[in-house]
Amino acid sequence: RFCLKNICSIQPILRFSKTERRTQVTKILDGKVFAKNLREELTQTVSALQKEYGEVPGLAVVLVGNNPASEVYVRNKGIQTKECGMRSFEHKLPSTIQQEDLLKVIYQLNEDPEVDGILVQLPLPDQIDAQKVLDTIDPAKDVDGFHIINAGRLTTGGEALVPCTPLGCLLLLKDHFGDLTGKDVVVIGRSNIVGKPMAALLIRESCTVTIAHSKSQDLKAICKRADILIAAVGRPEIITGDFIKKGAVVLDVGINRIPAPEKGEGKTKLVGDVAFEEAKLQAEAITPVPGGIGPMTIAVLLRNTIEAACRRRNWVYNL
Ligand code: GUN
Repeated sequence: RFCLKNICSIQPILRFSKTERRTQVTKILDGKVFAKNLREELTQTVSALQKEYGEVPGLAVVLVGNNPASEVYVRNKGIQTKECGMRSFEHKLPSTIQQEDLLKVIYQLNEDPEVDGILVQLPLPDQIDAQKVLDTIDPAKDVDGFHIINAGRLTTGGEALVPCTPLGCLLLLKDHFGDLTGKDVVVIGRSNIVGKPMAALLIRESCTVTIAHSKSQDLKAICKRADILIAAVGRPEIITGDFIKKGAVVLDVGINRIPAPEKGEGKTKLVGDVAFEEAKLQAEAITPVPGGIGPMTIAVLLRNTIEAACRRRNWVYNL
């Protein structure tokens, strides 16, 4: 049973069976499976919207320059947008572009009735003022939730579009716990993309939230008291087993590429901010890297695009 309310509000979605919960010692929170299930639900929603209204949501992604990691993300976003039945518009611009020309592209996308969501891939080249670009996006189309209006609405309790990675973390937590009221959560990292919106979302869920960061004194003692530990600091494996309270739930947002001489000369591998093998021995549940929080981000971006489309176009859908 699909109801727009379920897409636009943040409901717990139970995807792991109760038996699995009881029998597994340390549960690996599989973001890849969760994201796949979410995308399947969204595909059904898009199809239902098309039947009802004869149109589908559209997402525009703007990529400046040729950062290889950004190119991979943008390609995956385009593929998954189309797989979900939505329209994907890609704008690839040269790394030498000047601010005014980039802003002109944003103005056009703001005015384009077929575009429901606009995402400008970060980082942007040095000659561009990234916050100025993000604040030029129509807040109603700001599916990244980075516009100052959406950031403000998130903290003051309004109808915000919420940044994708923290919202993905929240969906996993609500799937695991159901209600989060009163949980002691420590978020390590204070970025506008993850740390700050994560804290705002958790406050909305009546958690007790501490934000720690690379300059916090006695980070270990702060982390050790957390029921839920969310690492988003961007330093490979700084959270070791002794930082984690027995039975805590650990979400690892970090994606760090480090040398892996054991795999051969010049080889590299991806690791999180958490030393996974040690942490697994302490935690009740933990996300791996890769395959944990990472895959959730694009799935939530698609969810946000549907939310933006429904609000902008006054689409109401209730089977
Ligand atoms: N670069 C890395 N992560 C993100 C993200 O979530 N959104 C955008 N726009 N750029 C990014």
